[in-house]
Amino acid sequence: MVFGVRTVIAPVEAFPPGERRIVEVGGRSIGVFRIGDRFFGIRNRCPHQGGPLCIGHVLGHVVADAPGGARVSGGALRIACPWHGWEYDLETGQSFMGGGEPGVRSYGVGLEPGQALMPDLDHGRARLVPGPYTAETFEVRVEDDYVVLDV
Ligand code: FES
Repeated sequence: MVFGVRTVIAPVEAFPPGERRIVEVGGRSIGVFRIGDRFFGIRNRCPHQGGPLCIGHVLGHVVADAPGGARVSGGALRIACPWHGWEYDLETGQSFMGGGEPGVRSYGVGLEPGQALMPDLDHGRARLVPGPYTAETFEVRVEDDYVVLDV
């Protein structure tokens, strides 16, 4: 069992609203969704018969104040399994198939500043011990959008 694994999925600008990605983490297939500015993570295995839940349709909660007045509310979102249509809350994994039916595991997804994900380079260098050999190095610099190597 895997606990506490943090996985960087993508820069936020490369993960536009409406996109989903299915990733493998610790042997589990997990769907990561961006709906507007909200992110959701949910296991890609339907509790019913193991269908690929995360390729299903994402649905809003439909409400109606009167006959013919159905509309999608802006609140909870559900995902419908593509195999038999069972639905689960995208945020909590709650099943909507009646009492006793299992939900699906959901995961926290958030935004982190890139700086917070960088390793502590100075700390890592402090533990290195210089060896007796030195590799030849060359100056590399960027000039007017071109990468130039001086040998
Ligand atoms: S396997 Fe998902 S609804 Fe049946």
